[in-house]
Amino acid sequence: MDDAALAAERLRIYALQDGAVRARTLAFCLRIGLFDVLEERPLTSEELAERFGLAPRVYPTLLAFLAAQRLIERGPDGRWRNTPTASHFLVRSSPRYVGGRALLFDGFYEAIGHLDTALATGRPWTPAGQHDMFAGFSPEEQRWFAEGMLANAIHGGEALVRTVDFAPFRRLLDVGGGPGGYTIAILRAHPHMEATIFDLPGVDGIARENIERAGLGGRVSFATGSFFDDPLPRGHDVLLLSSILHDWEDDDCARILRACYEALEPGGTIVVTEPMLADDFTGPDHPSVSGLTMALLGGRNRTRREIAAMLEAAGFRDTWCGPLGEQNSTVTARKPQLRSNEGPVLDSG
Ligand SMILES: C[S@@+](CC[C@H](N)C(=O)[O-])C[C@H]1O[C@@H](n2cnc3c(N)ncnc32)[C@H](O)[C@@H]1O
Repeated sequence: MDDAALAAERLRIYALQDGAVRARTLAFCLRIGLFDVLEERPLTSEELAERFGLAPRVYPTLLAFLAAQRLIERGPDGRWRNTPTASHFLVRSSPRYVGGRALLFDGFYEAIGHLDTALATGRPWTPAGQHDMFAGFSPEEQRWFAEGMLANAIHGGEALVRTVDFAPFRRLLDVGGGPGGYTIAILRAHPHMEATIFDLPGVDGIARENIERAGLGGRVSFATGSFFDDPLPRGHDVLLLSSILHDWEDDDCARILRACYEALEPGGTIVVTEPMLADDFTGPDHPSVSGLTMALLGGRNRTRREIAAMLEAAGFRDTWCGPLGEQNSTVTARKPQLRSNEGPVLDSG
């Protein structure tokens, strides 16, 4: 490595080391609405400090940080404005807004303090992992979590409809569909389709708001319950599990997949999309970090082969693994057709 490359690598390591400060500062800026305000009109340093009540010993370094991250820049008149990156991804009204992820991680800050123990012991920070987490959410926490999921789904949903052709299907069951981001992407791409979103009680209200806002109210129904205890709605020829299996240990995944198998129409397709690891564990970046979060909270990120094996074990056939994705990867499989008196068999089509 020459000196320039060494210096660049040293700075990359620095950014890994002080990532917590970066993450919390970004979450703070999102929470006070800094990018939303700058989107409306550029401000001088002093105007910005006054608008947000930022102390003189704080705001110069905060502005310098945001400028160094290429999130704000000074215009010719010296006023601060959003860079195109911030306008796209950090302004609430943008269709590409991903700020909910920053606030999601920020809300896990206490938990993240236990990451070293989780990595050392291999156990999640609460004994029952995500069983504890989802069951314990207040309505406010359900909403906070759902906004983080929605941020992921904007880009995850676009990638999914490019990877899987939903055109042959009529009725989608989005199991653990949360705020409905993936249902929205699929139904927008396929105007002939209808969907049911199944999730825990309370989450349905949040999904309903998003579905209405997307103008899809007439095409989506909502059902509530637990995929561990309650039968899933019937009458669907395609079933989606988006970022569900990675929340759970293998035995819980087997229970969820059993429920999915029972609910899906014979010949129907199950689609699993979530962050997955390379078969040789060489990345990618986002799924590996997401996997560390799962190590902390419960569940784990798996390889596409592991997901395919789980689907086969649940009785699905014809597994197909999509390309390794920088955010999500996708694995699909089919429930065999039933022929009278024969039990499940593979159909030929
Ligand atoms: C990681 S989120 C994924 C949400 C959505 N599929 C997406 O990708 O945007 C997991 C979802 O599973 C739901 N969930 C957790 N436990 C559940 C259970 N026992 N039954 C049904 N849904 C559950 C949560 O409420 C949450 O919406």
